[in-house]
Amino acid sequence: SNVRDDEISEETKRLISSLPSRIDYQGNKICKYQGCWYFYNTLQGVLNFQRGFQPQDTDIILASYPKSGTTWLKALTVALLERSKKHSSDDADHPLLYDNPHGIIPFLEIDVYHQSSSPDLAKFSEPPRLFSTHMPLHAMQETLKHSPCKIVYVCRDVKDTLISCWFYSSAIYKIEPTISVLESRFKEFCNGTNYFGPFWEHILSYWRGSLEDPKHVLFMRYEEMKSEPRDQIKRLADFLGCPFTKQEEDSGSVDKILDLCSLRNLSSLEVNKTGTINNVEHKFFFRKGEVGDSKNYLTPEMENEIDMITQEKLHGCGLKF
Ligand code: A3P
Repeated sequence: SNVRDDEISEETKRLISSLPSRIDYQGNKICKYQGCWYFYNTLQGVLNFQRGFQPQDTDIILASYPKSGTTWLKALTVALLERSKKHSSDDADHPLLYDNPHGIIPFLEIDVYHQSSSPDLAKFSEPPRLFSTHMPLHAMQETLKHSPCKIVYVCRDVKDTLISCWFYSSAIYKIEPTISVLESRFKEFCNGTNYFGPFWEHILSYWRGSLEDPKHVLFMRYEEMKSEPRDQIKRLADFLGCPFTKQEEDSGSVDKILDLCSLRNLSSLEVNKTGTINNVEHKFFFRKGEVGDSKNYLTPEMENEIDMITQEKLHGCGLKF
């Protein structure tokens, strides 16, 4: 298991004993809190966050279901905001050249609040503070109530997300990505009893949030970022309050940022070929980045089953897959 029981506080243990819990396909203990499944130590991070996080008006939180394009969204956001610090995307000292995007923008529940509800936030002194999360929106709503901070969510096709999860978790657990592993992942994914699942409730929380409060919640789609990158990065820049100037557009600044943040470029950087974060090799965050890759692995029956669930869960909400 990924979690040692002695890392969990007595209080969290007491809460866990009252929650639905199970062992996932990989032998990890997970439990369901406020409608979402967490590893025990992630739940502790969520509780710490809910208890201790004090939003600042300028905070930016990048949110996603795991393997939906988080790394890319982080890189783009860093590159967009660095412009105001006079770092253009071709600077030799650009932060993206020296750290993995996950090292630059930490996860609230997995990194910052993992151990404590009052972490040292000194390194975030310069606004805007950039955080990320895999929590569903409803897990943050009470804590962020009345805060004008901005949330960007990236949503990816459900089948491609599942396939990306399968490859990624096989890589980090150092097991072969066999069909039998895929089948057990598939079952859990469809049942929604997986880490940060159910997937559909996750995307719906942010989708609804973006409809209710579009100034503060931006809903982006991985597939659109791939098919119309220029439009989507401009949309992100506008939302974050740092639109491209005419002069920047004319000088090719949009394309330079897209190049800097491309999978090809990021994965070729020394820091991403060799480094690690939380015992995970940076290189595992970069694989193919293709739309529709799930076609190569899921049987038509599996595709059908997921499509049916998607149809049923998203029926009438205006979100199309
Ligand atoms: P695949 O496994 O389908 O290749 P996350 O960043 O949320 O962990 O998601 C990882 C997925 O995003 C992986 O998908 C990975 O290859 C892809 N990815 C990582 N960096 C990317 C980038 N700069 N541009 C596009 N896709 C990227």
